[in-house]
Amino acid sequence: MRRKIIAGNWKMNKDIHETATLIAELRERMKEFKNEVDVVICPSYTSLVVAKSLIKDSSIKLGAQNMLQHDDGAYTGEVSTKMLTAIGCEYVILGHSERRQYFKETDELINAKIKKALSAGLTPIVCIGETLDEREAGITDKIITTQVNGVLRGLTSSEVEKLLIAYEPVWAIGTGKNATPEQANQVHKLIRKQVGQMYSWAIAEKLIIQYGGSMNAQNASALLSQSDIDGGLIGGASLKADLFMAIVQAGVESSG
Ligand code: PGA
Repeated sequence: MRRKIIAGNWKMNKDIHETATLIAELRERMKEFKNEVDVVICPSYTSLVVAKSLIKDSSIKLGAQNMLQHDDGAYTGEVSTKMLTAIGCEYVILGHSERRQYFKETDELINAKIKKALSAGLTPIVCIGETLDEREAGITDKIITTQVNGVLRGLTSSEVEKLLIAYEPVWAIGTGKNATPEQANQVHKLIRKQVGQMYSWAIAEKLIIQYGGSMNAQNASALLSQSDIDGGLIGGASLKADLFMAIVQAGVESSG
């Protein structure tokens, strides 16, 4: 049985003061749970240090939203794996569609970042997903297969065992229009099959595949109870403790 993971991608929201308020609320609400699912928050870089100290002695884990694939040097405005691990980050979101769209990140670059993250002991949450045009053109499967191939290129089995994939249809992100549970599950199965072919079925079966894209308190149960959906990567609904915790609750119920 794969353990579910609910991760909040705060994107470019919450300064250090707002971070402190939200974490206090999350901690209060987390008391209702007994660590049945993994809960991760991914605040912006500027909030990571504060967040790390505020989640101390709780089961909440910390992730970053991006990083650079180089160790250090003249890369103005960038952040390295060493900087993240020194804070105590355990996860890093890589290849988010907003990075692909606004910052022109390619599968090749994301692949390099994944390798760097893994070598530093970070767990990458690797995002893939088709655009609306691609879905309407009927090429979702082809796009997903190409992305899986591209982002995992050259990774060993033991490396693939250490990462998570988040299927995030671009048309569902921040739009209020989620993929139906069946639509999402179908793509999750495709991803698992593809990883099975590239590595082994044993590795594919253990791979955690999260769904992301307008997951909320209303649709989380139906999504998370699908056979191949192992958690959520939550944007908008991760910014309010009650909305995020309702999704955590759905994760707990679907794990039971
Ligand atoms: P959303 O974002 O939940 O606001 O759609 C998800 C994501 O971008 O990871």
